[in-house]
Amino acid sequence: PGMENMRPSVTEIPFTTPLRFPETITNTGQLTAKSVIDAILPGKNARVLGYRGGMLGPTIRVQNGSDVSLRFTNNLDEESNIHWHGLLVPAEMDGHPTQLVQAGGSFTYAFRLNQAANMAWYHPHPHEKTGKQANLGLAGMIIVETPAERALNLPSGAYELPLVIQDKRLDGNGAPTYSPSMDDVMMGYMGETIIVNGVAGAVQTVSTRVYRLRIVNGSNGRIYNLALSNNAPFWLIGSDGGLLPTAEQVTAVLLSPGERADLLVDFSKVPVGTDVFLKSNTFAGASSQGGQAFNILKFTVNKAETDPFQLPAALGMVSPLSTASATKTRLFDIGIAMEGMNGMPMRGMHTIGGKTYLGSRIDESVKLGDTEIWEFDNSKGDEPHPMHLHSTFFQVLNRVGGRNTLYATEKGWKDTVLVMPGERVRIIAQFTKPGLFVFHCHNLEHEDDGMMLNFRVN
Ligand code: C2O
Ligand code: CU
Repeated sequence: PGMENMRPSVTEIPFTTPLRFPETITNTGQLTAKSVIDAILPGKNARVLGYRGGMLGPTIRVQNGSDVSLRFTNNLDEESNIHWHGLLVPAEMDGHPTQLVQAGGSFTYAFRLNQAANMAWYHPHPHEKTGKQANLGLAGMIIVETPAERALNLPSGAYELPLVIQDKRLDGNGAPTYSPSMDDVMMGYMGETIIVNGVAGAVQTVSTRVYRLRIVNGSNGRIYNLALSNNAPFWLIGSDGGLLPTAEQVTAVLLSPGERADLLVDFSKVPVGTDVFLKSNTFAGASSQGGQAFNILKFTVNKAETDPFQLPAALGMVSPLSTASATKTRLFDIGIAMEGMNGMPMRGMHTIGGKTYLGSRIDESVKLGDTEIWEFDNSKGDEPHPMHLHSTFFQVLNRVGGRNTLYATEKGWKDTVLVMPGERVRIIAQFTKPGLFVFHCHNLEHEDDGMMLNFRVN
């Protein structure tokens, strides 16, 4: 791809707006998808989508084992629904693309949590409309807590910062716009403005302590290579499905759309009065992005405090699933199907196993309780594809081609794995939830273009 295919480069605005945090709710509440007014850019009230007062929805903080009951009302002028990305819920509560709530309708999502502590998130999942609805503001964070995690005494309260990172293409009034061109469908709808929890140019004051940053990449197509501007190492303690077995010291974490990173950042040696940015470093492997480094969020260290925090020697439970226990291996070619199309891009070209999404078709049948190996083969492709499975967490077995290695985030339970061009990635999962689910690319333009299939577990 030449220069004409480069995505909008990121434009930084001054980091002067205090970071904000969506309100927190627990097990019950109302989420109403609707048009609301909010300011992404300082002082510029604009029309966005949200589930409450502004863009995004409340952060849902819940205890494992408890019952959740959330009433969803759709006040958009088109169908929508909610998928609980990273919660293990019954199929009929999962927000499958065929489980739609019509304009003006309501539905109560009710389920009992039974999983490890993790960070999850929620967003709409109506086929061909997910990219638009999520991009215009519909998404929210979920935090699942357990006694085992609480016993680790990780930084909490003011020292635990849930962060949803997104990029938006804003118009002159500061309103997000969504009208993907063919190039955007091919590469993902990327924006020039980076926002955190709904605000651009955000600043957060911190004390000289260890902070827990719980990050979801809620972007449609943009990948971030998260790092600190002072190049300090930090700890990765968890990913999609919860805590890693032990903390991994890293200097950068590559995070693709849908993935989560649970980080500990130590500001204790940063002099008071100093700024440190969470930034995205450049990265290789994806021709359409990664060429630019940019800042995401500014931390200003403004207060000296002594820190009682001690890094636990052991964190989560990740017992390896044995490949010998797998009853089946499924192989999926992923990416663009150019054959028969004269090499010209057109809609409906993003495929899994040569197929695009059809709601009424069961593409894969899995026996309930079975453990399987799935391989995603992007060796002929030229775009990154973050592949996401509903209903289960998986472990990444290996990556051949491209980056040729596993990453720190992949030492834990995952629900989304980045498959870069040239790569073949094998995962292993046990399927313990019966019913109809989807798996898809979490680049939302690819997903809406059809890069999604049904699987049924029974
Ligand atoms: Cu976050 Cu099926 O998606
Ligand atoms: Cu993709």
